[in-house]
Amino acid sequence: MRHIPNLKDLTSAELQEILEKALVIKANPGDFRNLLEGESLAMIFQKTSTRTRVSFEVAMTELGGHGIYIDWATSNFVLSGIEYETEYLSRNVSSIMARLLHHSDLLRIISGSQVPVINGCCEKFHPCQALTDVLTMMEHHEGDITSARLVYVGVQNNVSNSLVILCSKLGISLTLVTPDEIDNGETRDADVQDIIRNSAVITHTRDPVIAIQGADFVYTDTWIDMQYFNDPDHEVEKLARLEKMMPYQINEKLLAGLDCRIMHDMPIHDGFEITSDMVYDDRSIIFQQAENRLHAQKGLLWWVYQQA
Ligand code: CP
Repeated sequence: MRHIPNLKDLTSAELQEILEKALVIKANPGDFRNLLEGESLAMIFQKTSTRTRVSFEVAMTELGGHGIYIDWATSNFVLSGIEYETEYLSRNVSSIMARLLHHSDLLRIISGSQVPVINGCCEKFHPCQALTDVLTMMEHHEGDITSARLVYVGVQNNVSNSLVILCSKLGISLTLVTPDEIDNGETRDADVQDIIRNSAVITHTRDPVIAIQGADFVYTDTWIDMQYFNDPDHEVEKLARLEKMMPYQINEKLLAGLDCRIMHDMPIHDGFEITSDMVYDDRSIIFQQAENRLHAQKGLLWWVYQQA
């Protein structure tokens, strides 16, 4: 049995296997309709979601299994120990996916589970998103994916952490363009910071104009973590963050004349990290990327059930 708290424990061969299988299932969905017949995935959500919820539930349905949505706030996870509730769950379902505020709670779910656990996004990692992103790049890049150049513009967060891990394992060039070289927020992960310092394929710079020259893919994400976006107690910090980040906005001026694909993991906050004209620009692959959450989840579920 293998858990997916992040992508650190997977080898590059295993990651390639997941991505290649996702492409095969996407091309031949009818061949996999009964792959997970009789299997149930518990999907625990402590935070909001559109894509993660829909893609996992539809993936389970289309593979012949069943996804069960569990809202943390209306379940007895709020009343009891995480390990007790998880021990119960894992006697009734064959896999668990959890979107939680804190990675430490995901590790508690893993410790209480008798079935594989997948991280559906916490403050530190978003492994399913990174798999989707590279899958999408594979579809849009001619030649070996290791010849692609990805530039991530924004703030270091759970998405960039997972991209750092995945790109370093697969040998994909990733430039992080963020105002701070070192992540000192709650998203900081020591291993990721170590990779940024030492990997031959991961670099950091503060200058978006120079960094995006020659990029195949320019990627941005929210500047404010999702649970804080509409939080009135976070308003002062939010305004300061927005002012600091405006030079990093993906807009017509920044991307003028560049032959690159535009990526965003969604949800989009237009007028902040990206302008709406860039979302619908001919170079944008944002909606294909979002659609691919479904196909990447299928590849990942296939792999996880193979290990069980
Ligand atoms: N990208 C992503 O995880 O989308 P949701 O938050 O809607 O699940």
